Amino acid sequence: MHKPTRVLFVCLGNICRSPLAEVIVSSQAEKKGLAEQFSFSSAGTGDWHIGGRADPRSEQTAKQHGLDLSQHQAQQITRNNINLWDYFVAMDADNHRNLLHMGVHPGRLLMMRQFESAGEISLNVPDPYYGGEDGFEDIYHIFCANADILLRHLRNFHLR
Ligand code: 4NP
Repeated sequence: MHKPTRVLFVCLGNICRSPLAEVIVSSQAEKKGLAEQFSFSSAGTGDWHIGGRADPRSEQTAKQHGLDLSQHQAQQITRNNINLWDYFVAMDADNHRNLLHMGVHPGRLLMMRQFESAGEISLNVPDPYYGGEDGFEDIYHIFCANADILLRHLRNFHLR
């Protein structure tokens, strides 16, 4: 039995996008019987919300779709803890750039929407923090639309 592949979803604050991505992809993995193969978590590149809950709008969106974010505790990724994960899934180009600067290996770094994009440039998952409730429902659908293909891709990587 292989050890689970440790996948980290990364955004800026770890309160809006990456916690929702984590719980959606994790739930899809469970439905496909892949729960044992992966361990999912999320983190932010910023330190403002360390130890805090998910944004109430993310929590609410999760709840409306039968998912639970009430236990989320925000954490930060830094160059000192990158060894805790095998693969990193960035929400946007800024997160991607910051992860590379921290020393994440490019071969271990994915963009959440990279399989949805046309051409070279991956689409960003828009940051809903300063917007309205709609933004949260929008990113919920972005995560659902990309969860399967992301999981397929992660399964094809070398399992530890
Ligand atoms: P997230 O959204 O990166 O999707 O968690 C944000 C949350 C908080 C802040 C920025 C973005 N902030 O500036 O505090």
